[in-house]
Amino acid sequence: MEVKDKIEKLRIELHKHNYNYYVLDNPKISDFEFDQLLKELIKLENDHPEYFDSNSPSKRVGGDIVKNFDTIHHEYPMLSLNNTYSEKEIRDFDKRINKLVNEEIDYVCELKYDGVSISLNYENGKLYKAITRGDGSKGDDVTENVKTINSIPLNLYGNYPSSFFIRGEIFINHNDFKSFNNNRKKNGLDLFSNPRNTASGSLKIQDSSEVAKRPLNCYLYHLLGEELPFVNHFDNLQEAKKWGFKISKDTKYCKTIDSVIDFIKYWNKMRSNLPFDIDGIVIKVNCLKKQKILGYTAKSPRWAIAYKFQTENAITKLNKITYQVGRTGAITPVANLEPVLLSGTIIKRASLHNEDYINKLDIREGDMVYVEKGGEIIPKIIGVNKENRDLFSKQNIYIKNCPECNEILKRIDG
Ligand code: IVH
Repeated sequence: MEVKDKIEKLRIELHKHNYNYYVLDNPKISDFEFDQLLKELIKLENDHPEYFDSNSPSKRVGGDIVKNFDTIHHEYPMLSLNNTYSEKEIRDFDKRINKLVNEEIDYVCELKYDGVSISLNYENGKLYKAITRGDGSKGDDVTENVKTINSIPLNLYGNYPSSFFIRGEIFINHNDFKSFNNNRKKNGLDLFSNPRNTASGSLKIQDSSEVAKRPLNCYLYHLLGEELPFVNHFDNLQEAKKWGFKISKDTKYCKTIDSVIDFIKYWNKMRSNLPFDIDGIVIKVNCLKKQKILGYTAKSPRWAIAYKFQTENAITKLNKITYQVGRTGAITPVANLEPVLLSGTIIKRASLHNEDYINKLDIREGDMVYVEKGGEIIPKIIGVNKENRDLFSKQNIYIKNCPECNEILKRIDG
């Protein structure tokens, strides 16, 4: 066989095995066999740079260094969703849009993944650009980093439109996060506090081979384009599954608002069994024509709404702010709390993230603070009850010197 054909055959094979493993969760060969094929491909590609392909499976291991991420204008703005916390508001939403459309409306319910959103552009069946949300109208080109995410197809299958966008959420499964952190611990590296921050911090790493080491995953939930195959959202998603995208099997078509409410109730109970974090349910109008009639406000679509689960929180006294020195020398401020019961565990400490976070919320020692525990391992301070603040309390002054070696601290931009 000619080298060119051999390379092409290996690429097709590896794309397929990757898809079987990461999208279908049904591997057909062992990890060892996969690695052998990948090594063979990488060797041939190195020997024959004339057959370069920017979407080769070898891109999954990363290696490209991006110094500055280009800013790219979103062809369709990336908006956020209106949030509600009550059944009544969901029913009000249904009534409101029924009036506006003046026709029966059916819905699609989806999990609200707690990660970081991404917009993917495919041209002629190939991943062309991956853009972060940014400010909603323009984001950063993080294509090389996103190519390392195994559940995102680089080449599509079947009958896809020649040009379209698909949006979704990049996240990390609990188990993957745990083993990733364990591995870091073994290597003497700082630990990450939760899957969401790890996912969002990963997209703008300059060395894509570092991104490749992170167990990032991606569910897709929104198609945009001029030539989508179906006139409703649900069928488009099911079709996108055939092109190779990872679409959640827990996305549900709901004919009535009552079945939407049932779906919310079900997941409010069952969400702790999921292998990843969700913070609510997204309800979308199924029919694209009706979506168009309803349109958008400046910030969000009128055809969708997010039901957010109540996260458990508690109020307690912040006794002292201390500073923890990580193995790399990074400082993390920690809130030492009056012990309080939250979601079944006693909380004594919570993360304060960094100096900016403390200043933004004006968190002071002695304050009564709200502590929240989402799906995360370390609880966080989400607010201060300033009404009960001690008259003589003082604004927190961040330490200037390392609490361990007394070296003057440096604040690195960003
Ligand atoms: S739809 C215009 N669907 O929630 C439609 N968003 O507050 C906007 N999210 O930025 C997005 N799961 O990062 C949609 N199933 C889902 C989602 C979802 C999580 C995130 C997304 C978005 C934010 C909106």
